[in-house]
Amino acid sequence: MDITVIGAGYVGLTTGVAFAELGNNVRFIDIDEEKINKIKEGVAPIYEEGLQEMMERNMSRIKAASSYNEIDGVVFICVGTPSLQDGSINLEYAKEAVENAAKNMEEGLIVIKSTVFPGTTEKILLPIVEKYSKKISIAMNPEFLREGKALHDFLHPDRIVIGIRDEKGERLLKELYKPIDAPVLVTNPTVAELIKYASNAFLATKITFANEIGNLAKLLGIDVYEVMKGVAMDHRISPYFLNAGVGFGGSCFPKDLKALRAGAKKLGYDMLLVDAVLKINDEQPLRVIKLLEKYMDVRNKTIAILGLAFKANTDDIRESRAIPVIRELLKKGAKIKAYDPMAMENMKRVFPSIEYCDSIDKALDSADACLILTDWKEFENIDFQKMRKKIVIEGRRILKNKEGIIYEGICW
Ligand code: UGA
Repeated sequence: MDITVIGAGYVGLTTGVAFAELGNNVRFIDIDEEKINKIKEGVAPIYEEGLQEMMERNMSRIKAASSYNEIDGVVFICVGTPSLQDGSINLEYAKEAVENAAKNMEEGLIVIKSTVFPGTTEKILLPIVEKYSKKISIAMNPEFLREGKALHDFLHPDRIVIGIRDEKGERLLKELYKPIDAPVLVTNPTVAELIKYASNAFLATKITFANEIGNLAKLLGIDVYEVMKGVAMDHRISPYFLNAGVGFGGSCFPKDLKALRAGAKKLGYDMLLVDAVLKINDEQPLRVIKLLEKYMDVRNKTIAILGLAFKANTDDIRESRAIPVIRELLKKGAKIKAYDPMAMENMKRVFPSIEYCDSIDKALDSADACLILTDWKEFENIDFQKMRKKIVIEGRRILKNKEGIIYEGICW
């Protein structure tokens, strides 16, 4: 089948390249010329596990353009929906992409993959399409891709949700996803939109629940990981997303929860649970500083920060829990030496004047304390010998060798 993917970010690229792998012809459209040129040269513009290799394998079926002149087949809208000041999402890119697509097609199907508040597809985007043609169908097909594991998640999903309005939408989407072995839930666009938000809100709540129990466990002098091991043995709970730590970050959970809260408020409903999750998550990273202050006044002290990415195996620092920690330490007059295997270049844009070190050793050299904030595998075994004071506070559960140091875990 012919597919056009509008927006070549991590969702668009993954979706397009995976559809090419399944044998479809894919055309990417993005306003970013640099990205488009890279795709044309067969170079993945972002890092995603396996993406470069899969792209190379399928270049005969992949095209890219920065104009909307050539729209083929089923059109996937994968543009960003960034947060506005009040937490609700900015729909401008999505509206523009839908309008440009509709202008350049007579019939066919536009599929919204961007995360949009329930009601958006039918109430806001459909009327734009209908200005140009009543023969174009619209559908909503949310993504459930984890950054870093996006291709795997696309090809091996737990479920595929298609929110359709007519037989054409259902037929084309079922056909496209046919090679993937997963249950397909057929519903309407508004339900599909809320499934996406509710899934992310539930996962974020699960993490936050583990963090809250973890904060209590810490006061009781016990290990929340032992507690959760017992809790997770109940099959109704399951062991996933119960890893306590400095809280959730990334481009999705914080943004989606804020959008859900803001959208519900506009409808006259205060989402108390979502609100509490966001508040707990804001406080959580600062707990590592409270633990550190048991041992020292941080003013003029050198603190090594290991881990800047919002999670391991990515260079993404969006909403990384390291950001509020570094900000607070700087406010208190500490000196920061930071290390991350992938995310330092990105963090330099947020904190241009802290010291970035190109190895764990250099970051620890003469440091008065060390905070571990991302669960990178290389943080499993660390040599702390060069530290001035061997005080280590862990915000993610990763460190294995703890001999000869003063150690505190955030929730254990
Ligand atoms: C998340 C969801 O997992 C995807 O299903 C969803 O499609 C995606 O958002 C999205 O909406 O696009 P992602 O943001 O890539 O994916 O990252 P996760 O692996 O879910 O981790 C999010 C944050 O939660 C990270 O900061 C991670 O360290 C933290 N986390 C995760 C915990 O603190 N504890 C856990 O047990 C799990």
